Amino acid sequence: MTTGERLDDIEAALEGARSEGLRIIEAAADLGSLAEARTRALGRKAPLARARSGLGGITDPTDRKKLGQLANAVGDELEAALTSKRGGFERAELDARWERERVDVTLPGDAPPVGSLHPLTKTAWEIVDIFIGLGYRVAEGPEIELAKYNFEALNFPEHHPSLSPQETFYIEGHGDEVVLRTHTSPVQIRVMESQAPPVYVVIPGRTYRRDVMDATHLSAFFQLEGLAVDEGITMGDLKGSLGTFAREIFGRDLDVRLRPHYFPFTEPSAELDVQCFVCRGSGCRVCKGEGWIEVLGCGMVHPFLLEWVGYDAARYSGFAFGMGVERIAALAHGVTDIRSFYDNDVRFLAQFATGGGGP
Ligand code: DAH
Repeated sequence: MTTGERLDDIEAALEGARSEGLRIIEAAADLGSLAEARTRALGRKAPLARARSGLGGITDPTDRKKLGQLANAVGDELEAALTSKRGGFERAELDARWERERVDVTLPGDAPPVGSLHPLTKTAWEIVDIFIGLGYRVAEGPEIELAKYNFEALNFPEHHPSLSPQETFYIEGHGDEVVLRTHTSPVQIRVMESQAPPVYVVIPGRTYRRDVMDATHLSAFFQLEGLAVDEGITMGDLKGSLGTFAREIFGRDLDVRLRPHYFPFTEPSAELDVQCFVCRGSGCRVCKGEGWIEVLGCGMVHPFLLEWVGYDAARYSGFAFGMGVERIAALAHGVTDIRSFYDNDVRFLAQFATGGGGP
């Protein structure tokens, strides 16, 4: 073989390496096969490398330079083809990713779960609202209470069964002087002690009794107390105000009645019944065939209390009432076991979640 033939062969081999390399690169279908194509087009066993190895035998510097430049140019061209091909794949991948991860920011978002007021809180606020509408204000008192306020000042006789440690929680280390209040009534005394008449207050709060838990009893529960003291307050005011309240909660067209009862701190005392809102008086399961449902205890404030706080009992009179918040909530919502309010079962509680609400 002459030198001229060898030069032509090498040149043809380089041109072949160029077209073969470009074909290989062009055929790559993704980034993975492109890496393989690089080895096949530019690797140590690639046509270009083989063609290059022939360059060593060329003695003429000008020829060697010319073919060397051609080899470099082929190498550069294949490199450039690889780079441009890779760029295409990367762009395609990015496009696909944009497509995958595209977010329509105009769509409504996922609402985070929000809590709601507890049904007992809602019921208490609803009742408080009714009385605020009648001109009352809210008062509160301590849950750990002096026996003096819980019993004595409320005209409980010394041997009343409620004073027994079987019925009432006494605070250790204070003899028989400090209790967990058994009702919100002692706050009547605290309010009257702190201000002159007229008094119009509602008193929501937690109360405690040594009761065994069942469907209608808890050892810690809520009461809502009310007290109105002014000149010329009569039993008619009591019936009118409490009737307004009961109809607001249970149904505007329902009748109410007062049934004689006994409480030490009221005279006369009564229980307020509302006509059964399920059967309207004919008798059903909810009212246990009575036609009426007991709602709360009430009465005319006993003069003993007015005198105890230093009010002029000849000038002022008043009425008071007290109700169980669990009982009112249970009646209003058809709940048959008041323990449900304390189980913290969100499925139960969520049924009462109608927006935020509150005063
Ligand atoms: N304190 C009574 C109780 O716990 C409820 C009550 C009845 C409160 C009559 C009153 C009332 O203010 O006048 O059972």
